[in-house]
Amino acid sequence: MELRHLRYFVAVAEERSFTRAAERLHIAQPPLSRQIQQLEEDLGVVLIEKGCRPLRLTEAGQFFLDHAKPLLDQLRDLRTMTQRVGKLERTLSVGFVASTLYGQLPEIVRRYRERYPEVEVTLVEMTTVEQLAALKEGRIDVGFGRLKSEDPSIRRILLREERMVVALPPGHRLAQRDAGVRLTELVGENLLLYPKAPRPSFADQVLAVFSETNLTPGRVTELRELQIAIGLVAAGQGVSIVPESVQGMHHGNVVYRRLEDKHAFSPILFSVRHMDRSPELEALLATVYAIYDDLGIAYQKEHL
Ligand code: BEZ
Repeated sequence: MELRHLRYFVAVAEERSFTRAAERLHIAQPPLSRQIQQLEEDLGVVLIEKGCRPLRLTEAGQFFLDHAKPLLDQLRDLRTMTQRVGKLERTLSVGFVASTLYGQLPEIVRRYRERYPEVEVTLVEMTTVEQLAALKEGRIDVGFGRLKSEDPSIRRILLREERMVVALPPGHRLAQRDAGVRLTELVGENLLLYPKAPRPSFADQVLAVFSETNLTPGRVTELRELQIAIGLVAAGQGVSIVPESVQGMHHGNVVYRRLEDKHAFSPILFSVRHMDRSPELEALLATVYAIYDDLGIAYQKEHL
């Protein structure tokens, strides 16, 4: 059994079609069918049920698929990591979700650059979902995001849980008091939710906080990004729920009030390829913790 047999079989099983798999693999269909036949002969078991459309896997085929996929993921990571280790220049490509720019991200990167001037740091704004694909393809080395997705080839470290706050126009009744706001007081409002796409995203975390509190927002307007939501709050179009650090984005016509509900938190996660234990990443994580120590931000230390 060769690696190409695994790649070919996974493509056929995922596409549920020889035609689509052949297109995906950029090969003709007859050689693809021959390779799968060879694989079945080599294993001495049937992997794909005969004469079924759409194509169905046998129990052995499903077992083979479940174990072949992680092997191919590992192979891809091995390739990316070997290329990274073999590079002479030291680089660190960081993916981040926009809201972390208002939190500690600028200070983390500033301090890291000051301490490790020999490392070329690149920053790329992307959603958490985009970060996962970029990590796997080796386009970034670390992602700062907010979604707790389950992906066996990615290691996630929870840096901290950040409180959510509500952004209100200054004339709003809830802005007249200094005390925090409860979600139940927001159900009659036009909720300005971002980002509209791709999903899942921070938008779904906000909706989840409503449902975990047994509430449903009355009216929802989905927007492309955070800056638009804040601009529309300033214009009096509605209210928006944002991570606490966004308060750093000062806007004359927006005030922020703390959300008191116990579920109103959004995690900040550090995601890396499972095998990656490079010194650049160790140093970046240590920089995050050093800043948390300086600012008195609570966290639970983890190692790569
Ligand atoms: C933070 O605000 O805690 C943070 C932001 C970006 C990266 C890491 C941490």
